[in-house]
Amino acid sequence: MRKKVIAGNWKMNMLPNEAISMITELTPLVKDTGNEVVLCVPYTDLFYSLLTAQGSNIKIGAQNMHYEEKGAYTGEISGKMLKSIGVEYVIIGHSERRQYFNETDETVNKKIKTAFENNLKPIVCVGETLEEREAGIAYEIIENQTQKALEGLTEEQVANTIIAYEPIWAIGTGKTATSEDANEACKKIREKIAKMYGQNVGERVIIQYGGSMKPENAKELLEMSDIDGGLIGGASLKAESFAKIVNYNS
Ligand code: PGA
Repeated sequence: MRKKVIAGNWKMNMLPNEAISMITELTPLVKDTGNEVVLCVPYTDLFYSLLTAQGSNIKIGAQNMHYEEKGAYTGEISGKMLKSIGVEYVIIGHSERRQYFNETDETVNKKIKTAFENNLKPIVCVGETLEEREAGIAYEIIENQTQKALEGLTEEQVANTIIAYEPIWAIGTGKTATSEDANEACKKIREKIAKMYGQNVGERVIIQYGGSMKPENAKELLEMSDIDGGLIGGASLKAESFAKIVNYNS
């Protein structure tokens, strides 16, 4: 049985005092869940968030990192730096980073390898645009992104990679994929992984859905056979709405 991983992605929101308040409020609301609870916060909130979440079941993640360990990369943060303060998860290849910051399948692949070298758990985003969906090539796109992201990883690393299927047209738009469509895409990704790395790895890998997930639609999505969690933007900014998603099954 795969564990459900419910991860918030705060994007470029929340000052440290807001992060502290949100996590303080969230802690008692999610303490009894059997689901994995993760908040991926801005770099400037990491330390405050880690301290506030100490002793709780809330795990803290970053939203990006560089693939090099150190060096002349002004403004960048390395995997080693994240690990050094106790970060556990890192989002890699979010569509906003692919779209606005020149993230490519190649840098995504390098970053995943660096994440594993530093014992960080990568949440790797894949997803098609509206044009690609309408052209009937959505599965081709996401299977291709998945294959390139995972190139050169060991079976064990692939099994421990979290894939977030996020159709770009559903992110921050209020438009959600139907639970059937979302499940079908997650299933395609799982089948692709099974074909490349074996049935066992395919069965183990956690595949989340992301794109306008909120308390009203979370249960239906999260109960689908191949959706093992969510990557949640807007609805993760408030403790109450995020807790409702985390507690969808309790
Ligand atoms: P959203 O964002 O929930 O606000 O659509 C999801 C994401 O981009 O990870």
